[in-house]
Amino acid sequence: MTLKVGVLISGRGSNLQALIDAAADPDFPAEIALVIANKDDAQGLKRAATADIPTKVIRHGDFDSDGAFEDAIHAALTEAGVGLVCLAGFMRLLNDSFVKKWKDRLINIHPSLLPALKGLHAHERALETGMRLSGCTVHFVRPSMDSGPIIMQAAVPVDPDDTADSLAARILEWEHRIYPLCVRLIAEKRVRVTNEKVHISGTRAPATGFLSPEPAE
Ligand code: GRF
Repeated sequence: MTLKVGVLISGRGSNLQALIDAAADPDFPAEIALVIANKDDAQGLKRAATADIPTKVIRHGDFDSDGAFEDAIHAALTEAGVGLVCLAGFMRLLNDSFVKKWKDRLINIHPSLLPALKGLHAHERALETGMRLSGCTVHFVRPSMDSGPIIMQAAVPVDPDDTADSLAARILEWEHRIYPLCVRLIAEKRVRVTNEKVHISGTRAPATGFLSPEPAE
């Protein structure tokens, strides 16, 4: 049976698009059952509509409290039969009670090698610190921001001549690769969390690392 995925977005939705594209393969073990945006003008809503995926806009401002807003999201996900929730550029922090209800069934993608550079403006901060490597992380969500058991990371070099945009673009390419891959591994039931560490059957760490920068000769 395919795993039903709910995707929460606030904006552009390029990671949503990567998930849509992956799920278009009949062999992909997950389907996107619902896309929820907290903003009417989230561009990702159009991407979902183009792919005939049901969408809902649930605006924080329409509710009296965070709890009521999150209850509405929870109800919509439950009604759609969702088994895994993917945060994909969802720009609101979710409270503990929501996060606990979806424990180990709620994942996020963040454009840094967590636990470094949590929060906003990760690319600008990577450049400010002079880091030579950055990347992206997919992790299970826990109550504090950008924390939780790490499922997969991809590292990319940081060039001192990068701008935040050029670094973001390099990292985004990898986001689009690892997010669908993580969803696939979860749907294949190969991912388990033990003592807040993730184990994925049938995967291994690469045999070696790489230098950044590397000597030209
Ligand atoms: C991505 O960089 C993601 O890592 C971060 O927000 C951005 C969303 O981009 N959480 P998009 O909406 O998926 O294009």
